[in-house]
Parts: sequence; structure tokens; C-alpha cells
Amino acid sequence: MEKIIIHGGRRLRGEVRVSGAKNAALPLLFATLLAPGVHRVDNVPRLRDIATVEKLLSTLGAGVSWRDDLFEVEVGELREVEAPYDLVRTMRASVLVLGPLLARLGQARVSLPGGCAIGARPINLHLKGLEAMGARITLDHGYVEARAKRLHGARIYFDIPTVGGTENLMMAASLAKGTTVLENAACEPEIVDLAEALNKMGARVEGAGTETVTIEGVDELRPLRHTVMADRIEAGTFMVAAAITRGDIRVEGADPAHLGAVISKLREAGAEVIEEQGGVRVRGPRRVLPVDIKTIPHPGFPTDMQAQFMALMSLGSGTSIINENVFENRFMHVCELQRMGADISIEGHMATVKGVRGLLGAPVMATDLRASACLILAGLAAENTTEISRVYHLDRGYERIEEKFNSLGAAIERVRE
Ligand code: EPZ
Repeated sequence: MEKIIIHGGRRLRGEVRVSGAKNAALPLLFATLLAPGVHRVDNVPRLRDIATVEKLLSTLGAGVSWRDDLFEVEVGELREVEAPYDLVRTMRASVLVLGPLLARLGQARVSLPGGCAIGARPINLHLKGLEAMGARITLDHGYVEARAKRLHGARIYFDIPTVGGTENLMMAASLAKGTTVLENAACEPEIVDLAEALNKMGARVEGAGTETVTIEGVDELRPLRHTVMADRIEAGTFMVAAAITRGDIRVEGADPAHLGAVISKLREAGAEVIEEQGGVRVRGPRRVLPVDIKTIPHPGFPTDMQAQFMALMSLGSGTSIINENVFENRFMHVCELQRMGADISIEGHMATVKGVRGLLGAPVMATDLRASACLILAGLAAENTTEISRVYHLDRGYERIEEKFNSLGAAIERVRE
């Protein structure tokens, strides 16, 4: 196991480029299963989760290789239809093979992902939608068995706007017979990126990015050529880093159109946010003003930025109320922040953050991907040294993050525990 050591109290300055978006790359790479041939996807980030995708695609019989920074997937006759438990439990997004396998082969056997640190995260809405499209779904020893001679179009209403559910059903519907309408669909930018990729493969997807997505099924699709969008959550993380260290960072590749809520809240907190050509520049405030946030589906404040923003509010000049409305257990970073001197109390989905004058470095433990980012941000601002263990959580979603922070003037080292 590895840990990272942060010598805090340094103001970050300079320019950093964000990598391709993990949460766009994952569904996109599974969409390659929909069409035989050689697919080439650019700007795929080198992350642990992408390595898991490589394993899963290879298990299913696809050939995967990197040509410099180009991710190449050769899809022929798939020899396997099973996404095994050991891969799904390390990355729950593996359930996104369900739609493509069902659409292409008429069958799929995918382990139920089980819970995770931030919540139960069921996939009932994915399965309900696939059944509406004609799939027969059974549960067998912790696996979802799905079969369908040929999926047919359906009108599907999501009780909750689920990102993964919208993506799974968009992919399934692209090869179904007839038209599918997804209502109360998720609107995240990563869904728009997936729709653009599917349409490049010959699919007919309209309305992605709005609550109603219409997919007209086609008989076959062609190999994909696509460049993954920039990672808006990584961008937001660096923007908060500028705010929490009173720094001045230009985040290359950040798209303001994907970060409206985050930009607005950073400005409320007193940061100067300048939207430039090809990126966003953030100058941190001398005093962080307290700001209330409520996480809700896009275009609301993203749940994936909640932990990072809480680190900033821990140093606010007043009290901030943070409501986490998307996941039921996404406050795991609170007790670690408290070890660093933060004054936070939790009541159900609501955290009350009373800003303190300063945080103190301490040994802390990462519990999930965005909690790890939160602890790095707190460590950057804290006096003396912070040690974060279990950084494998961090490596799932951030590419070479200590190198990027050190290029901005941070002092972070990675050591073996
Ligand atoms: C995606 O997860 C992201 N992961 C998450 O990012 C992100 O936090 C989440 O969307 C919300 O934006 C990827 O894209 C790989 P959901 P997903 O289905 O698709 C409930 C990160 O840090 N729900 O939109 O799993 C669910 O329990 C990760 O990068 C059902 O009840 O999220 C949750 O409360 C963490 N039944 C809510 O909906 C279902 O069938 C939103 O989940 C599906 C979801």
C-alpha cells in the first residue's frame, strides 16, 4: 500500500492541464462492444479504473492496446458474456456492459456490484428499463442474468435521474428495434459525450443533456473514433485548490459550460474566477466566505465536488450548510477532516461546517475517491504535514495528481507504507 505525504501551507501558482474525464471514458469504452472492428479513443486518462476496463474488455474477448495516448479496442466475435464479481466489485461502473452485451449478443451475465463506501447504489432502474425493452432478467447467485432475442424500443421513466442508468439504456437502445424514449434522464455532460460517440458510430440519439433522450434503434454500428471530453471534476478539484491555498491557477481544458454551479459557488466564497479561452483561471480569496451548497443532479452542484468544497468551507469565515442529496453516505471525509481540526457536525444528509482559522496536518485515511481529493486539499492548506493512507482510492480517478500539484508549487511525496 502507498501513502502520500503533504507538506502544507504553500500557495499554488501556475498552469495545469486536466486529463480526459473518467466518467465519460468508462461508458464510452464499453460502447465499443456494440460494433465489430477497431475503435480508437483519444484522451483516455491512465487510471486504475481504466485498467479495470481493459481487463473486463479483454475478459469479454476484445483486444485492447495503447498506441501512445490512443486507446485501441479491437472487437470481433465476443467469446464471453460475463462480467465477473472480482472486476465488478472493484469498479461498479462495470455494470455498464449490460446494455451493450444485451444489444449486441442478446445475453449478459453481470455480477451485482454490491454496495460501496458512499451508498447502496442499486441498479434497479437499469434493470427495469432493460425489462421494458424486452429483456428477461433473473438474479442468480449474486449475478444478473439478462437475455433478449432482440431488444425493442420503449418509453422509460426514471424515478431518479440516474447517470449510469441513462447510459446503459442509451447503449442498449442504439441497436434495439424501434424507438426508445428515456424520461427524467440524467443530464450530465458525460452523457452528452457518450451520445456524441454513439452517433459517430451510426446511432441516432437525440436530446442527450436534457431530461428526455430519444434513441432510434439501428441494425448495426461502426467502429468509434472519438476524443474523450476533459474531466470537469478534476478541473473543479484544481479550482478549489487555488481557492484553499490563496493561490492563482489556470486550469487548462476546464470548460466553464460544465462547471456553472462550481464557478458560481467559488465566486460566492470570494474567489476570482476568470473564464478564458480553453480554460479557467482561479485566484483564491484572502478570506474564504461561508457558502451553503446542496448537491443535486446536473446542472446542480455536483455530488462529486461536495467533499472538495467541504475542505474549503472548513476554513470559511463563518458557518456553511452542506446538503448531500444524491448519495446516502457521502460524508466519510468528515471524521478525517475533524482529525485535522475542522469543526463539522452531521445530522442525516446535512453537514454544518463552522469555519476555523486553520487546519493542522495529521495522519488521515482515504475512504473513497472524492474523499481522498478532499484530504489532499485540506493537507495543502494545513500547517505542517499530512499523511494520507489508502491512496489507491485516489488513483482510481486522478492521473498523476501529486505530479500535477507539485508542478504548481506543492510539496507532495508518495511513499510505500
Ligand atoms: C455516476 O455514478 C458517477 N460514476 C459517480 O461518480 C457520480 O457521483 C454519480 O454518477 C452521480 O453524478 C460514473 O459515472 C462512473 P447514479 P452512478 O446512477 O451512475 C440511485 C466518482 O466519484 N440509483 O446517477 O452510479 C443511486 O443509489 C463517482 O467519480 C438507484 O436508486 O450514479 C444514487 O443515490 C462516484 N437505482 C442516485 O440514484 C438505480 O438503478 C444517483 O446514482 C441507479 C441509481
